[in-house]
Amino acid sequence: MAQYPGTEGEARVPPGRLAADVARVFAACGMGGADAGLLADSLVAADRRGIHSHGVLRVPEYVRKLTGGGVGPRGRPSVASRVGGAIVVDGGNAMGQVAVAFAMDRAVEAAAQHGVAFAAVGRSNHCGAMDHWAMRALPHGMVGLAGTNALPTMAPWGGLDKVVGMNPLAVAFPTAEEPPLVLDVAFGMTAHGKIRVYRQKGHPIPEGWATDRDGDPTTDPAAAVEGLILPAGGHKGIGLAVMVGMLSTLLSGAGYGLESGNMADGAFAGKDGQFCAALRVDAFRPLAEVRARADKVSRELRASRCRPGVEQLHPPGFLEAGFERRYAGEGIPLNAETLAGIRRAAAEVGVAVDLV
Ligand SMILES: NC(=O)c1ccc[n+]([C@@H]2O[C@H](COP(=O)([O-])OP(=O)(O)OC[C@H]3O[C@@H](n4cnc5c(N)ncnc54)[C@H](O)[C@@H]3O)[C@@H](O)[C@H]2O)c1
Repeated sequence: MAQYPGTEGEARVPPGRLAADVARVFAACGMGGADAGLLADSLVAADRRGIHSHGVLRVPEYVRKLTGGGVGPRGRPSVASRVGGAIVVDGGNAMGQVAVAFAMDRAVEAAAQHGVAFAAVGRSNHCGAMDHWAMRALPHGMVGLAGTNALPTMAPWGGLDKVVGMNPLAVAFPTAEEPPLVLDVAFGMTAHGKIRVYRQKGHPIPEGWATDRDGDPTTDPAAAVEGLILPAGGHKGIGLAVMVGMLSTLLSGAGYGLESGNMADGAFAGKDGQFCAALRVDAFRPLAEVRARADKVSRELRASRCRPGVEQLHPPGFLEAGFERRYAGEGIPLNAETLAGIRRAAAEVGVAVDLV
């Protein structure tokens, strides 16, 4: 993201080669070729959009999970039940990306028939950045929504105990000529993965992101990892996180909050939950009209006045679309630690990777 410390001096990796190399690593963990490709592509898609906290930085922990018995490399999601547009997906303890892609595809099919559909996913695992899954509805002329539970890193408003995950929600809205409007936010002041990127780079985190374990404000990323992440929007952010967490878990029987999955423990079996929803726009209004009006919203946001010192205003998803354009030509910037982590994980499963 734009707020990351500089990426100058970092290696630039062509996205296609990175995805192919990472797919070989996941295939060596026992995943089928199509699933390994889907997982690698989704991580590289996050890096392409500047969301490095949920990109290939995750390869080592995914390899640990896939080889440690926590995630079934050959796990297959399936439809457990369906009532009209209400779908329950059994994630089959596959990687969350495999389960969520399956769930969004089922939601899109059902929304084509019923106008709206909501797929609740259980027996799943970590699924990466949520924008990728919400955007999967866009080529079908649909609004896409995707949410997930996450390991608790926040306390209830005014509390000290880590019992609330930051449970991100993504909403993708189709446009005509403007880039699609895509909001993808977790309800903490920052993502846990982002603090890890700061720790990796040895940079202090911005004030207001986190406290240490005693609830005192800190800019030390190591203390923040042990402490509490502060909610975005105070009690409102905590409330939204609780609700997205419940929508992601209670309707599928997945684990909520402290019961949910744990990426740090390679042997811990998937108890995560997600949801994917699709709204067929032309079941409400003509698609061309809604796309044109979404363009107008986007242009209005961009054309409104900036405060002094601000150069440009960004509709949701525009910063990420900008990174995507830039990195397509320049390659994805990856720091030495991320590259070393991927090489180490690859070597553990007997794969040599080029990367750069
Ligand atoms: N799978 C999981 O368990 C999990 C858990 C937490 C977070 N995440 C992912 O982490 C990623 C990062 O989440 P985050 O909350 O830290 O993101 P963030 O705070 O960087 O916000 C990103 C969103 O805000 C918009 N945005 C950012 N800066 C803006 C600006 N200056 N003006 C206007 N809009 C702006 C972006 O377009 C984007 O939609 C997301 O992809 C999320 O899905 C995943």
